[in-house]
Amino acid sequence: MSTLIKNGRVVTATDAYVADIFIEGETIAAIGKNLQVNAEQAIDATGKLVFPGGIDPHVHLDLPFMGTYSSDNYETGSTAALFGGTTTLIDFAIQTQGQSMQSAVDEWNKKSEGNSLCDYSYHLAVTDYNPDTRPEVKKLIEQGITSFKTFMAYKGALMVDDGQMVGLMHEVKEQGGLVTVHATNGDMIDHLIAKHRGEGKMAPLYHYLSQPEVTEAEASGRFVDMAHYTDVPAYIVHMTCEGALNQIRQATRRNQKVFVETCIQYLLLDASLYESEGFEGSKWVMSPPLRQKKDQETLWAGLNQGLVQVVGTDHCPFYIKQKRMGEHDFSKIPNGHPAIEHRVELLYSEGVEKGRISINKFVEATSTNAAKIFGMFPKKGTIAVDSDADIIIFDPKEKHAISAKTHHHNCDYSGYEGWEVTGKTKTVLLRGKVVIENGGTKVNKGYGQFIKRGHSSKVI
Ligand code: URP
Ligand code: ZN
Ligand code: ZN
Repeated sequence: MSTLIKNGRVVTATDAYVADIFIEGETIAAIGKNLQVNAEQAIDATGKLVFPGGIDPHVHLDLPFMGTYSSDNYETGSTAALFGGTTTLIDFAIQTQGQSMQSAVDEWNKKSEGNSLCDYSYHLAVTDYNPDTRPEVKKLIEQGITSFKTFMAYKGALMVDDGQMVGLMHEVKEQGGLVTVHATNGDMIDHLIAKHRGEGKMAPLYHYLSQPEVTEAEASGRFVDMAHYTDVPAYIVHMTCEGALNQIRQATRRNQKVFVETCIQYLLLDASLYESEGFEGSKWVMSPPLRQKKDQETLWAGLNQGLVQVVGTDHCPFYIKQKRMGEHDFSKIPNGHPAIEHRVELLYSEGVEKGRISINKFVEATSTNAAKIFGMFPKKGTIAVDSDADIIIFDPKEKHAISAKTHHHNCDYSGYEGWEVTGKTKTVLLRGKVVIENGGTKVNKGYGQFIKRGHSSKVI
């Protein structure tokens, strides 16, 4: 199949110009003005923006967590992703204690194979690093799983101690991978949770008050120090606050580079939502929690200063009835919320349209940097000859409102209900095929492929 996208404004991390894009099979064959080619189909993109397909490197599909499962599976989650312009997602295959890392991959393959509409990969979430599992790091990298996620919180379930962290870092450095982290101080959080429960403070607000900024700043600094000592390529997921970003700023003074992801909710929503009426605040119970307005300003500035490279979602939805597991005890509310469908449009609307970031920074943060950091560039993350034809055709003028009534997440609420957004994903191509058009999907589950990723880099 060949396709000609005509006359759109092509935007990459570095350029913006009007051109035609000629696609043959799965890849881009030519880019230029008024291309004279015979294409089997043509798409008129006049007046539209043409972006590389979004890459969301922080997604939890069908995740067993806090006594339940996140409510989007590969079929529903990848459908929502495509509607919003995300063509590749990276999920987390979670090793359970006493299990091999490979068994986690096998388990996640059962969830994903034949079910995804978009392309996908996994980070390997290491929860049990020991002499038996150490040799698996090399084997996983050979399979194209080149990033290893650690948790410094969720003790007894996911958390690793500092000894395991440093051991893993040494091995990942040796084999050419990347260590990523949920950086919050698990012991301190557990103490504060117990304290609040002991005082009978059970409302969703106490989830927030059990994870103050210092818990994230301290763990981020500790992780950065261990990454400096071991010299491993390192990445902090879902950073929320000024204190944590200042640890990264401080590390640059000794010439260290640690990659940082924030998530769209931390740029746009704040902790006042936890004071909503009744149990409403549970909709935004996630870890780390939403922060203050001053933290949002820090994160926007961090994007512009090059300290924050990626905007993900930490998409991890739960139905209200699942959230109600913690109706009488905030510590039992499943952590997470739905977001994958709205990341690209929200960042465009609130970032580019409102003049907070440039359009090229938007492409970097939604696509290019994740492709580079996670070993998929230039196959993914840009619009260039020989790259995969993963493309969003975007109307920068169309206004619409976000609602659980119209979103494609398998979730009965939206954290952004009623938000007015300027800019809409109209048509999406994935490896040369139109996958979203006229408000519908054009492919079936199973079209999405596992992406074997390359070595991670310390420089992007
Ligand atoms: O609240 C969250 N973030 N849920 C998913 C698990 C994690 O910590 O990323
Ligand atoms: Zn996390
Ligand atoms: Zn997460």
